[in-house]
Amino acid sequence: MTQSGEIQDDPFWYKDVIIYQLHVKTFYDSNGDGYGDFAGLIEKLDYIEELGVTCIWILPFYPSPLRDDGYDIADYVNINPLYGSMQDAKNFIKEAHRRGIRVITELVINHTSDQHAWFQRARHAPAGSPERDFYVWSDTAEKFEDARIIFIDTEASNWTFDSVAKQYYWHRFFAHQPDLNFDNPAVTEAVLEAMRYWLDIGVDGFRLDAIPYLIERDGTNCENLPETHAILKQLRTALDADYKNKLFLAEANQWPADVIQYFGDGDECHMAYHFPLMPRIFMAVHQQTRLPIVEIMRQTPAIPESCQWAIFLRNHDELTLEMVTDEERDYMYSAYAENPIMRCNVGIRRRLAPLLENSRPRIELVNGLLFSFPGTPIVYYGDEIGMGDNVYLGDRNGVRTPMQWSSDRNGGFSKAQFAQLYSPPLMDAVSGYQVVNVEGQLMDKSSLLRWMRRIIRLRKQYKVFGRGTLEFIEPANRKILAYVRQYESQTVLCVANLSWSPQSAELELSRWAGKTPIEMFGMEAFHEIDETPYVVTFAPYGFYWFLIEK
Ligand code: NOJ
Repeated sequence: MTQSGEIQDDPFWYKDVIIYQLHVKTFYDSNGDGYGDFAGLIEKLDYIEELGVTCIWILPFYPSPLRDDGYDIADYVNINPLYGSMQDAKNFIKEAHRRGIRVITELVINHTSDQHAWFQRARHAPAGSPERDFYVWSDTAEKFEDARIIFIDTEASNWTFDSVAKQYYWHRFFAHQPDLNFDNPAVTEAVLEAMRYWLDIGVDGFRLDAIPYLIERDGTNCENLPETHAILKQLRTALDADYKNKLFLAEANQWPADVIQYFGDGDECHMAYHFPLMPRIFMAVHQQTRLPIVEIMRQTPAIPESCQWAIFLRNHDELTLEMVTDEERDYMYSAYAENPIMRCNVGIRRRLAPLLENSRPRIELVNGLLFSFPGTPIVYYGDEIGMGDNVYLGDRNGVRTPMQWSSDRNGGFSKAQFAQLYSPPLMDAVSGYQVVNVEGQLMDKSSLLRWMRRIIRLRKQYKVFGRGTLEFIEPANRKILAYVRQYESQTVLCVANLSWSPQSAELELSRWAGKTPIEMFGMEAFHEIDETPYVVTFAPYGFYWFLIEK
């Protein structure tokens, strides 16, 4: 069992943690200015610790014009004053560590804000100068034409003309986010300096934002290029040279065969998100069949021993549908985003609970999968209480509303005047802070929050979930997803009913004949396994984790 209260000296710690993803801005406002801050986050560390998560991933908190919620960084080695001081950030990291909670931050190196001093310097410097060369410039917009546009709702081209530089600059995301030029070794050096700065302060690792796009080459789609992998290996070498027990998490929204390249031979990233799995969980639940999940896991190659998948249900972005087929995308839109306002770029801008129509059994089911599938689970702040969304807020802001602490003014998030808040809190009749909030769910023993605490506590007791192998068992009833996780002496059988109706299934478990499965939530014995098919019956969306004792 993972010990709380201290940081273990373990190079593979990222295989056993449960990650909680949050934005400082959205969590708790300690000084009443309408923005969450580091001091507020420290005040809420008890809450995070009691939830049971063991790692916090904080979204960008650096100085920024906030036109991409902080992913438009204007200074890598400072704090946005809205969120507090550098000392506050250091205190937060120290306080988290004191509780045995690790902290991962963001290394957003593909691009900066156009307000970054490097870009301002570049556009004013002569063409061809070392300063100009920090970014990717061209006299025409006709280069790298095979690169797709990612933010299709807002951008028409990956090139924008700069009237000061009198050249076009390259950007894979918003036009105000010029891409850094990784063909220039000085850029890699500058980025390494920023990386070391935060490591020296004590962060435990980095999410490497938008990492497939570092290098561009004509005649390619400018994604996953060998030169990009070479840069990553260079960053990793620098990380390993001077630091111990640190983490790189690759944000590479790609197909499994491309993503696994980001692990290298264990010499690039320690972890990478499994982007294709996530929409298939939603597909499986809507279509009431395990096939999408089983198929994508079959297509997922083995990864190096030291590496790990990061798995998630929702995050701060749209539920991306880039890694599904056209047919699957149409299906997902009609099933989960009937109203076009719910769509954003190539995805769906909704939170977990509303996607699942606030159905408690469905929310429990998908979390049951999240916490028992191979990889390290990530919980998006607010999803543990079933927070809703506001699809009318524009961009992806509807899933970034203030954390709902209580039914007090502003949901207990801030004492500021309502108009001063960075975003209106949810106030609708279904998901508003009056009905969905932490205080209420702590009073209610059967709340989602209490249930989340229990499943997290259970998961942490067994290393098999973070480290074990995966093997599917395929009963004739395709509405049932069944898989075995195995690690050292621990064997766990997970079975889930993906259907809205009660089901039964016959499982081929004869290799464990003579053993008695113990259902892990209640620690009650089920009937003994023998040579005949093992019959399990399920409530709608019901699932079990069985311990099969040695
Ligand atoms: C990935 C981040 O998750 C997203 O929020 C951001 O908009 C893009 N990178 C571009 O910076």
